[in-house]
Amino acid sequence: MRRIYIETYGCQMNVSDSELMLGVLGREGYVRTDDPVEADVLLVNTCAVRDHAEQRVLGRMGELKRYKRPGDVLGVVGCMAQRLGPKLLERVPQVDLVIGPDGYRGLPELIARAREGERAADVAFQGWEHYEDVPPVRDNPISAFVTVQRGCDYRCTFCVVPMTRGPERSRKLADVAGEVGRLAETGTTEVTLLGQTVNSYHDGEHDFADLLRAVGAVDGIRRLRFTSPYPTDFTPRVLDAMATTPAVCEYVHLPVQSGSSRTLRRMLRRYDRERYVDVVAALRAAVPGVALSTDIIVGFPGETEADFQETLSLVEQVAFDDAYTFKYSVREGTPAVRIKDHVPEELKTARIGRLIELVRRIARRKNIGLVGTTHEVLVEGPAKRGALLQARTRTNKIALLEGPAAWIGTYRRVRLTGTTGSTFTAWPIEELAACPSPT
Ligand code: 5AD
Repeated sequence: MRRIYIETYGCQMNVSDSELMLGVLGREGYVRTDDPVEADVLLVNTCAVRDHAEQRVLGRMGELKRYKRPGDVLGVVGCMAQRLGPKLLERVPQVDLVIGPDGYRGLPELIARAREGERAADVAFQGWEHYEDVPPVRDNPISAFVTVQRGCDYRCTFCVVPMTRGPERSRKLADVAGEVGRLAETGTTEVTLLGQTVNSYHDGEHDFADLLRAVGAVDGIRRLRFTSPYPTDFTPRVLDAMATTPAVCEYVHLPVQSGSSRTLRRMLRRYDRERYVDVVAALRAAVPGVALSTDIIVGFPGETEADFQETLSLVEQVAFDDAYTFKYSVREGTPAVRIKDHVPEELKTARIGRLIELVRRIARRKNIGLVGTTHEVLVEGPAKRGALLQARTRTNKIALLEGPAAWIGTYRRVRLTGTTGSTFTAWPIEELAACPSPT
């Protein structure tokens, strides 16, 4: 029996891609192992969105090569593999294969060739590739990521993704609905639809509104999430589908990147501050109680103190439930490389510190306001520390509660009893019927 070990960095789509790779290799008789020592094939599925992510992988490669016995194969796959291609083979002599996000079908062949001593890179884009015939190997029986769109046609000037994931394409609605139907039959009750700009989904016939309705109608699916949407792709049709599809959760991750219209223009985002605020208002009107999180970049080239102040004031104005904050990282080949006027590292560090402080203060204020309220939660598993269970509200808040392991995978009504400012403790009130009747 051959064993495959795979380590995944970066976004949820990478998690989903790793499940596809396990599917491709599963058909060849490979089984998964969590122990690199016993693996015959070691893969690292990488991210290229910031330099930091790439440095981490390079460091990790230095460690993983120690597990490589004669005959074993070490591969780098994913976005960093796509970005660097054959250069990675030169840079890390122990690496046998390099495959970008559209080449996973070729894994068995490149592994076989590596065993013959050949080192190869495949970084061709396949504009049709959806791995439709590959059954993903998932390890969470309750909640599943389902990729519905690959690639990206937007051209945000900071972003490397169009270069690493190629042109945008959507899966056929019937294929997505079929996959979700099979998941539901085996007990999955929550799905998260994935795409780089997921709400621009269009399969030639159906848009994202149709997709939400189709997936939301699958018997057994109680929670429907999606990530990441693009702000201006919330058409009235999509908003209406969200409002009228009971499974759609009251949580949206809505990357804003900056609160300054001047910076947004230079990022080639397709909205200004006012338009973004309008989208937030439309979401809040369509989905009462919707929780919002965002992504923010500080220190984009040319960002002034006044621009940064605009970001702070937007965070204040929207009052996000959470925000993922990043220091701008130069990505070779992206348009922003040509913008002079780089913000010094110390200034980026100072700005991100101020931003995080504000984000936390607002989240804490909102979360304290939720203590005492009741929520439906899905019990996901044991808490990371201690003997409690970890559960999640429809609004994506994490709540810890006491209960037996048998509750894992069930839906319960709880009262939030306390908060650390970001997560909650909760008291179980009642079990909710397994059949989906979302409230
Ligand atoms: N530098 C810093 N952050 C970036 N992101 C994307 N590209 C860069 C970059 N060059 C952030 C954006 C995006 C998130 C996934 O990563 O905020 O939404």
